[in-house]
Amino acid sequence: MNEARALPCLEPLPDLDREEEPTGAPFFLPGESPRVHNRPKSRPKLEIRNVVKTFASTKGLIRALSNINLTVHEGEFACVLGPSGCGKSTLLHLIAGLELPDHGEIRLYSSRTKKGNNAEKLIIFQEAALFPWLTVLENVLFGLRLQRLGAKESKERAMHFLALVKLENFANCFIHELSGGMKQRVALARALVLDPELLLMDEPFAALDFQTREKLQSELEELWKRTKKTIIFVTHNVEEAITLGDRVILFSGQPGTVKQEYTLPPGRPRQKESPFFAELAVEIKRDFQNPGRELVEQVTG
Ligand SMILES: Nc1ncnc2c1ncn2[C@@H]1O[C@H](COP(=O)(O)OP(=O)(O)OP(=O)(O)O)[C@@H](O)[C@H]1O
Ligand SMILES: [Mg+2]
Repeated sequence: MNEARALPCLEPLPDLDREEEPTGAPFFLPGESPRVHNRPKSRPKLEIRNVVKTFASTKGLIRALSNINLTVHEGEFACVLGPSGCGKSTLLHLIAGLELPDHGEIRLYSSRTKKGNNAEKLIIFQEAALFPWLTVLENVLFGLRLQRLGAKESKERAMHFLALVKLENFANCFIHELSGGMKQRVALARALVLDPELLLMDEPFAALDFQTREKLQSELEELWKRTKKTIIFVTHNVEEAITLGDRVILFSGQPGTVKQEYTLPPGRPRQKESPFFAELAVEIKRDFQNPGRELVEQVTG
């Protein structure tokens, strides 16, 4: 029996009914440009229009983001790539509502049909921000405390998501007993248990070693397929972006703006050894290293 269906508190996980994507299919056809690959789009989930963000700092006013226009679609895995300081984290903070834009508009289209306290947008940070004095299970339960669920139901729900991230046997461990990769899995379970409409991930695997990073990438890809979440994933790493993304959005240097977008073909998991993967990585790296305006724009007045 499907484990999710056995839990009364959960909507059953979609039965991997995302349109089946061919595995092992060529990453690109020879000669095909990644930039012109068109994929059918679902409806918009998030629209960002003409967003500008400036910070006051000791060096004066710093423009972090300049005229961002971006639409993310329902169920899309969008990767934001860009050099350090180009405003990637700022963008996620604006989307999450932790900061307000100076100008422009950010609109989330909710698909909720039922009332509840489920989160709309949740961020997972580079360093998993967990409570060290709580156990793994208690960390995951923490976000559920505002929801009107009974203790038994909450625990079942938390354990369900811990099982999804393969940590059900570590539920009673404290955070300091976990590896970096396990901590990020707890952070992922803690976010998913709240059933967010939009999952914002700010370089969640950057601090991990290569092997753990690759393992978590493929686990995240599986979770995304199962939960159909809309994900915006920030990274510095070109290979990570083209491994995970339906679309890679390349930012220019500071102040950040969308410099280039690459829509990827649907075949998953991506064949990293494919010449086309390498070709795209080279192309993006070339664009990445030529980020445009690199100087800090000082905004006066
Ligand atoms: N709260 C703040 N106050 C002042 N300046 C800020 C603040 N937050 C960000 N900035 C500035 O805005 C710019 C963009 O910062 P942000 O953290 O968004 O970049 P980033 O692309 O996420 O960089 P990294 O890849 O290093 O994480 C930087 O110049 C940073 O110094
Ligand atoms: Mg950042």
